[in-house]
Amino acid sequence: MKIDKTEETAIKNAIEQLYFKGIYEGNIELLRKIFHKDALLFGDIKGVPYYKTAAQYIEGVGSRVSPEKSGKDFKPTIISIDVINTIATAKLNVKMYDFNYYNFITFHKIDGKWLIVNKTLTDVELKQIFSTKIIKIMWNKNRITDLLGIEYPVFQGPFGGGLSTVELTTTVSKLGGLGGYGAYTLSPQEIYDVHQQIKSITDKPYNLNLWVNDHDIIDQEHTENQYKKAVEIFKPYYDSLSIEVPPLPPSFESRFQNQLQVIFDIKPKVFSFMFGLLDPNIIERLKNQGTIVVGNATTVDEAIALENIGVDVIAASGFESGGHRPSFFDKAELSTTGTFALIQLVKDKVKTPLVAAGGIANGRGISAAMTLGAEAVQIGTAFLATEESGALPIHKEFLFSEAAKFTTLSRAYTGRLGRGITTEITRKLLTATDQTLPFPLQTTFMASMRKAALEQKKHELVFFWSGQIAPILKHKNASTLMKSLIEEANELMG
Ligand SMILES: Cc1cc2nc3c(=O)[nH]c(=O)nc-3n(C[C@H](O)[C@H](O)[C@H](O)COP(=O)(O)O)c2cc1C
Repeated sequence: MKIDKTEETAIKNAIEQLYFKGIYEGNIELLRKIFHKDALLFGDIKGVPYYKTAAQYIEGVGSRVSPEKSGKDFKPTIISIDVINTIATAKLNVKMYDFNYYNFITFHKIDGKWLIVNKTLTDVELKQIFSTKIIKIMWNKNRITDLLGIEYPVFQGPFGGGLSTVELTTTVSKLGGLGGYGAYTLSPQEIYDVHQQIKSITDKPYNLNLWVNDHDIIDQEHTENQYKKAVEIFKPYYDSLSIEVPPLPPSFESRFQNQLQVIFDIKPKVFSFMFGLLDPNIIERLKNQGTIVVGNATTVDEAIALENIGVDVIAASGFESGGHRPSFFDKAELSTTGTFALIQLVKDKVKTPLVAAGGIANGRGISAAMTLGAEAVQIGTAFLATEESGALPIHKEFLFSEAAKFTTLSRAYTGRLGRGITTEITRKLLTATDQTLPFPLQTTFMASMRKAALEQKKHELVFFWSGQIAPILKHKNASTLMKSLIEEANELMG
């Protein structure tokens, strides 16, 4: 017996390029290429028995209004393909017009070509699908896994600010997920070097992430006023550490345009961005070079705007997430929808495939997010806690401690709203929204305090990034975490 991946790919290509395309366009020439002239079709449609010869079927396709011309949804999916020697079966789902067809197609390789020799079909009411095992078989095969060429729809969330590592990214990508690398603080040369390092370890896809808006500075006068407020608020904490309040940090030049140039040079398989939109021409250029583009949204309106500029995938970031809130339309404080509400609201309004980010750390979370309409999940906090991440050992200790039961959204540490473990400062400064320096000057302003607090082990003055899901974390190793996510998801949906 010979089970051959190359043959599986050949059948997949034939289905996509001849069968699906032929039906979609009503192109009978394409269908004639894939159907054996003596093939027969059996099944039932809406309970009525169905029988046609291949010739009758193809003629019917040619004379009806094609899905392409009708403008109605056409969603074809390959559920599975099995090949043994020269015979094969494919299980397909085709949603078109008002039908939801399931097909078992039998292939025979004749004179070097895979031909359909038999097709059985039935249509299933949409509401029935969710109560059958069908959805479960498909959990790791969908538009996102196909587009990205990954085995599992599990993204490791990219971490900015030096917390990403090549080891973490490659570990996840090598295991069939999508490793992520947050590069917004890196110079173009550093981004280039990281890319080379990742490529020297694996040629699997990974996601390079930047912030399209990397500073909030309005003008010098505003900044100086904010500095005065910040000094007033934070001085007692500097005093408690016996260190001087730092001077006003020097002004900040955005790095994004230069960083973007590297993305055009290195052409990563996946590029994600947060904190805003990109010019549609840039998206087009990225797509033309073969890069898949992912944007981050915290509200339905942001998701619609991302779809309108042409991103391939949207990550919907719920307010449970660790790290910064990537809001860009309204204030982050007013964009705090939870992941499971957000994914459903966005799904209702956009067609672009969705990634659910925030509050997911095990197979149950993956299964729930996918049931609600996500086609992948992005997991941050659980990967941040593993030994492969760039977080400090004390940070990881905190993620596994009782302290992680409480997290807060605060601007106190960087000037932008982000979620981390609740400490004294976040408790006291929860309402200090307009009392910090603009991002990223607040990060610079707080750097000496953070350093001294860590040295003096006054951890109540340190902000440890964390999502709300931290208390359920179990795994301290990224590879074990990734394997367990897949195993649990397989158990629930496989
Ligand atoms: C410390 C930290 C830094 C992050 N930095 C970025 C970033 O630079 N870019 C980005 O798109 N997402 C960033 N994220 C968000 C994650 O990629 C991911 O979407 C999020 O953590 C998912 O929620 P979870 O923490 O509940 O798993 C960051 C998250 C954390 C915890």
